[in-house]
Parts: sequence; structure tokens; C-alpha cells
Amino acid sequence: MSPALFTPIELRGLGLANRIVVSPMCQYSARDGVANDWHLVHLGSMALGAAGLMMLEATAVAPAGRITHQCLGLWNDEQEAAIGRVLAFCRRYGAPTKLAIQLGHAGRKASTLPPGEGGGPLGPEQRPWTTVAPSALAYDQGWHTPRALDVPGLMRIKSDFVAAAVRADRLGFDLIELHMAHGYLLHQFLSPLSNRRDDAYGGNLENRMRFPLECFAAVRDIWPGHKPLGVRVSASDCVETAAGESWDVEQTVAFARALGEIGCDFVDVSSGGLDPRQKIALGPGYQVPFAERVRRESGLVTWAVGMITGALQAEAIVAEGKADMVALARAVMDDPRWVWHAAQKLGVEVPYPVSYARAAPGLWPGASTMRLP
Ligand SMILES: Cc1cc2nc3c(=O)[nH]c(=O)nc-3n(C[C@H](O)[C@H](O)[C@H](O)COP(=O)(O)O)c2cc1C
Repeated sequence: MSPALFTPIELRGLGLANRIVVSPMCQYSARDGVANDWHLVHLGSMALGAAGLMMLEATAVAPAGRITHQCLGLWNDEQEAAIGRVLAFCRRYGAPTKLAIQLGHAGRKASTLPPGEGGGPLGPEQRPWTTVAPSALAYDQGWHTPRALDVPGLMRIKSDFVAAAVRADRLGFDLIELHMAHGYLLHQFLSPLSNRRDDAYGGNLENRMRFPLECFAAVRDIWPGHKPLGVRVSASDCVETAAGESWDVEQTVAFARALGEIGCDFVDVSSGGLDPRQKIALGPGYQVPFAERVRRESGLVTWAVGMITGALQAEAIVAEGKADMVALARAVMDDPRWVWHAAQKLGVEVPYPVSYARAAPGLWPGASTMRLP
């Protein structure tokens, strides 16, 4: 029987060769939101690795939605053309990997330094910009206090998501993930810790879900019917509060169900990022129980992510029905050939790019006596 991890899956009209996703990873290497040679080499290299799907890093739908000055954007023609160059390589040499983009808006967590430069809010000499959020509440002490969005501001951001999705379709992306996790703008609407609005977009769960659901529906409307659209969520803020005072897995299940009703094809289940008081017990597969619960209680296709590093570990998650797919970030950055090695371990063959075919262990001299680690 073929391993579950390498069993193809179909999301809407998109066939994926296996259940492995290269998780989105900000590179903080763009200029004015424009991809460059770094992105070509980084994504090009990972596209050769035979994952079912590779997702581009969080890509801002508007200038103020960037986390840093160095984040990718997709709101103008120059940015679109630069991503097109990267995709052309990935498509030409990276089959069978399908290509996805994560669209997002950083909200109150925008206007910061990249982690490699210390992170934290941009200082006055570092070209900071005004951040926006559901409410005028800073992420932490010393962070920029965001401007609370008025309704016209919300509609502008919704149309920014739509415009970026139109560009993503023109670029030939196979799938879009909307970033509703890690404390960025759409997560800020979901969580009562960051959303203190008293209009139709704040207060009870239905109201807090309204703007993320509106953005999803607007993108779904223009994104071609055969292409999958899903979201990344933080299943919990991981902040100890009384029930209902922060975002938690019960609300995530309700949100997933609501998304399912308007055509959501998958939920990529992460956690945290909204509030510096978070306490997360890190460990192998630490977010898998969240994915399992969302899958069981919403019936949606679910991806698990977070410290999934081993082939047998990933195989067990899918085979035991804890998630339909797994997304890997650091392990693939460490080993862009992770999927090849997982395939060897699990006894299946994956296609190698023709120029790399001799890397396949079966083609090495003495291969039959070689033992895999
Ligand atoms: C360098 C780096 C950049 C990341 N950028 C993003 C991002 O753009 N969007 C996102 O949703 N998560 C981002 N993440 C989180 C990863 O996608 C992933 O959820 C997290 O690293 C846990 O998975 P892992 O243990 O396999 O690394 C990033 C992680 C790393 C290490």
C-alpha cells in the first residue's frame, strides 16, 4: 500500500501529487515589494524538491500591509512581473510541484524590522508608516499604535485582497491561501484581545468573523471556480484568559464551519502570534491536535504545521487522519530535498528534475547495497 503522505489529493480542481506543502516563509529580501534573484534561487531550488505544493511567503496586498520594508507585495505591475519570472522557472523545472501564494495584510504588526535586524517596530529614522487595525491597540509596549479602520478603510483593504488575487490568477498560481493567522490583520479582527470595536465588525463572534469572511467571499467571487482557496488560521491565541476573551479552538471550529459554507477548500492550522503574553508548549507536531480537532469538527480538509520534521512523523499524521496534509517550513529550508528523502524512507519514487536524475540513490554505483539512514 502506498504511504498516505504520497497519496495524491484533489483540492477542488487541483490535483496534488502528495500531501506535502512547502510552508510560506518570509525572506525579508524584497525591495519595494519586488521579488529578485534571491527569490528566484530560493523558490526555484525548493520547487525542484517534488513537494505537492509550494507556497510563496506572506505577500502584502497593500504597502501598509507589509510586515517590513523588505516583504513581498502584489499590488503593482512591477511586483507582478517579478513574481512571474520566478514562477516561470518553477513551472518549467519544478513539475510536479503546484504553486501557491499566501496573501496577507500585517495590520498592527506592520512597520517593523526584519527578525534578522532585531525585529520590533521601525524607529523614526527607519521610514516607519502608520499601521491600521480593528482597534487602536498596539501589539505591545513600544509598538506603533495603529489607526482603527473605518468602514471605507475596510472596504479598501477588501478590494486590495481582490486586486492581488486577480494578479495571482493572471500569474497562473494554482491556489491562494489568505493569511488569517499569526496576529496579522485578519486574525486581529477575529480575536477579542485585539478587536474592541462596537460596530458590526466587533463584539460577538459573528461580528468578529465578519471582515475575514467578507474578504474570503470577495476573493472567492473572482478566483476561478476550479482553483482552490483556503486560509491559514491561528487556532488559539494561547493566552490564558477567561473563556471567550481570547481566540480559541472552539471559535476556530465555528470559523472553519462558516468558511466551509462559502467555499473554503482547506484550513491550514497554526497558532499564536497575536499577543506577546502567549504561552506555547513547543514540541514535535505541537499544533497537530488543533488541526485534528478542526478537521473532525468542521469536516474541512486540514493541514497540520509546526515542528513536523521526520518522514515517519509526517506519514503518521496523515495516515492516522489527524490532518489531510502537512506543511513544513524550517525542515525544508534546511533540506530542500526533504521530499526526496522522505520518499526514499517510505519506499516510493518521486520524479527528479532530469539534470539531477543521477542524485537518485538507485542510480548510484553500488546502490543495491546502500542502506538508507
Ligand atoms: C523564516 C520563516 C519565515 C516564515 N514566514 C511565514 C509566512 O510568510 N507566513 C506564514 O504564515 N508563516 C510563516 N512562517 C511560519 C511557517 O510557515 C511555519 O508555520 C512555522 O515555521 C512552523 O513550521 P516548521 O516547524 O515546519 O518551521 C515562517 C517561518 C520561518 C521559519
